[in-house]
Parts: sequence; C-alpha cells; structure tokens
Amino acid sequence: MTYSDDFRPSERGLMMAVRTLLRELHEPGRPHVDPATAAAGLPDEPPEEGLGGEAALRALSPVAFADVSRLDHPGFFAHMDPPTPWHAWAAALWAAATNQNLLHPDTAPAARALESRLLGWLAPKFGMDGGHFVPGATVANITALWAARELTGADQVVASSAAHLSVEKAARLLGMSYLELPVDGEQRIRADLLPDDLRRSILVLTAGTVGTGSVDDLTTGAGAAWRHIDAAWAGALMLSSHSEVLDGLELADSVGVSLHKWLFQPKGSAVVMFAEADRAHRALTFGGSYLAAPNVGILGSRGASVLPLATSLLAWGTKGIGARIDSCMTAAASLADLIAADPALVLWRRPLTGVVNWRPAEHDAMAVRSRLEDAWVSTADIGGQRWFRSVAANPCADPATVVRAVRDAMTSHQ
Ligand SMILES: Cc1ncc(COP(=O)(O)O)c(C=O)c1O
Repeated sequence: MTYSDDFRPSERGLMMAVRTLLRELHEPGRPHVDPATAAAGLPDEPPEEGLGGEAALRALSPVAFADVSRLDHPGFFAHMDPPTPWHAWAAALWAAATNQNLLHPDTAPAARALESRLLGWLAPKFGMDGGHFVPGATVANITALWAARELTGADQVVASSAAHLSVEKAARLLGMSYLELPVDGEQRIRADLLPDDLRRSILVLTAGTVGTGSVDDLTTGAGAAWRHIDAAWAGALMLSSHSEVLDGLELADSVGVSLHKWLFQPKGSAVVMFAEADRAHRALTFGGSYLAAPNVGILGSRGASVLPLATSLLAWGTKGIGARIDSCMTAAASLADLIAADPALVLWRRPLTGVVNWRPAEHDAMAVRSRLEDAWVSTADIGGQRWFRSVAANPCADPATVVRAVRDAMTSHQ
C-alpha cells in the first residue's frame, strides 16, 4: 500500500469541492439547513473504513454550509466579518496545500521573506518600523502588552470600559493590574480621569471600539510607560481617504490591526507593529536548539496567512483597497441618513468608522431583529441599552435593503 496519491491533487476532487462552494454560497434560494441538526447525518463514531476524499467532502458539505451567512449579501450589514475575495481563498488553498511552517526557514524561506516584505509595506503607513503577523487582534494585544511589560517594567494596564475584552485578558495573563476608566458620551476614554502618574502604566487606546466604532483621543497619555493602540477594526482606515480619523496613531509604541476585518482577509490574519520593532522583538525572542531561527512572539508553528494578504494587496493595490473601504464608509453614512430621516427609527450618533448604532423608536430591538428577513444586523449594549449595530464590512451591502427589512419586521406583528 502506498499513500502517495493522498498528497497528489485530485483534479476531479478539487473541482467538485469548488463547484460545491460556488453552488452553496452563490446560488440564490438554497434551502435553509438547520445548523443544530446539520451534523445529525454523520456517524456517532469516526468510521473505521474511510469514505475517500470526495465522499467525505460531500458528507460534510451540509455541515460546512449550514445556514452560513452570506457576508456579501446586500442585506448583510452586521458584524466585523467581511466577505473575502476569491483570490484570497485561492491563496489560502495554496497555503494549506504547501503547509509551510513559518517557524522554520527550512520549510518556508520565501514565505518568511514575503512576510518581511509586507511588513515593510504596511508598518510605515502606521508610523511603525516593523512587527509580525499574528492570527488575530486578541493575540496582537497580548503580544504588544507583553513586549511593553518586558521593556518598561510596567505593572498596570489602563483602558476604557469600551476597550475589547482581550485587553483585560492580556493584563490578567501577564499578571498586571487592570484599571478600567469610564467613557464619555461618544464612548471614548475619559482622558480627564487618567491617573496623573502613568510611569508604571501601559495605556491602551482604541481606534474603533467593538460596540460603536468610537476612537479614543489617540494623542492622550503622553506620560505613560507605553501607549498601545488597538486598531483592530479602524486601523484599515489608514489605507482609505478617512485616515484623519486616526490622527495621533503614529505616536504609539505599538499598534494592532486585524486584517481579517476591514482588509477582507480570511481568518486568522492580523499584525502587531512596534515603533521600535527590533527592540520589541528582542524582548519576545526565544531560542531553541531545534530551531534554525529564533522564535519571536507568542506563536510557535504558524502558516502562511501572508499569502492571501499579498494576493489581495497585489490584486487590488492600496488604491483599490482604499476604494473598497471608502465605499463601506459611504454606505454607513447613507444608512445613517436613512435612519435619521425616519421618525420610527433612532440613530445613536453619526458613524465615525463605519459602525452604525440604531434601533426602532417604539419596538423591542431584539424582537424586531429576530423577525428580519434577508437582512442582518448585530447588536451592542451602549450605556445599558441594546442597540442594533450595523458594521460596514461588506462593500456589497445596501443600506436601503436593511432599513426596509427592519421596517417590515416592525410592522409584521402589529
Ligand atoms: C477593538 C477590537 N480589539 C480586538 C478584537 C479582537 O480581535 P480578534 O477577534 O481578531 O482576536 C476585536 C474584535 O472584534 C475588536 O473589535
């Protein structure tokens, strides 16, 4: 018995997989599959005799695509999860097929060089001089705070109540105390409440809070031992015509950006960048006798998420990426206009970074949301009240479709 055929591409199998993907994701009117029961057809135990690749994919397709959100649907104006371009999927397939390990230059010499090249493209746009790839902004935040603690000896993390939970998670992991400051009416950190002495504190400011897309004053906290900016969501605006929203970001010691949010990348793709990357990396470097190159940061083995990113940057260019983000910002502004003009709806604030918070004036927001047809919104708590949250991560979203669906859902039970 030889297994070499397992690792040679089966053109027929691959074509079948691609056809299934296109049919399930892009043919309109696919029957609804209940996600709770989608896996019910699978055996209770892993089968003793394998089904073979094609049959396995066929058996799993109802699970893989069960009621999956079409992130490019005109009615999808909901989460921070963007649709991903087809060329990024293709590059992700290459990365999976070659399965290079960027921990080892031996298996991934070119992909490691590609990472350096892309960081050379990206970091200067944020006023940083380098960094490294991580699987998400949670890891970016933990990594940045780890470097900060190592380099400054700080023992406290300060952030606002609107900061992402990963900031407190990082503080706890690193054995640091956590000071949470209140926010103002725009969900920005109350800079007037910052402690006078921040010499032993890492200050985390947010550019695009998870609930409302608010941006802290990025110039605040000059006396802090370290200033980290969590730009998971809004960092992408640096590539758009709205970069002024991020004024002051270049003053930070470190910045984290999720590429799997507004840079349209498959998960998990993010970057942590430093003003002095060599110094930060030295603090996070571990050698190992089995490694040809030192291990920097939290991750050990990791794949080439840089390939899809490089593909998107080449396919669209920075101008093309900026144009897509700009069109998302325009859609958010149009959605806000429609809401503001409708007395049956309430707009929280004009959106700053493509996150629109709104709700029905009279009806229960959650009940209306549960009745939405062919439209999707997420939710956020603001000051103890539940609001819709419409995130402009989908360049194909149509504001009028979403408002119409909400209006229909408001009247459908009257
Ligand atoms: C502001 C902010 N920071 C961090 C995160 C965590 O990012 P990830 O889910 O990529 O780990 C998020 C996720 O929504 C976020 O909005």
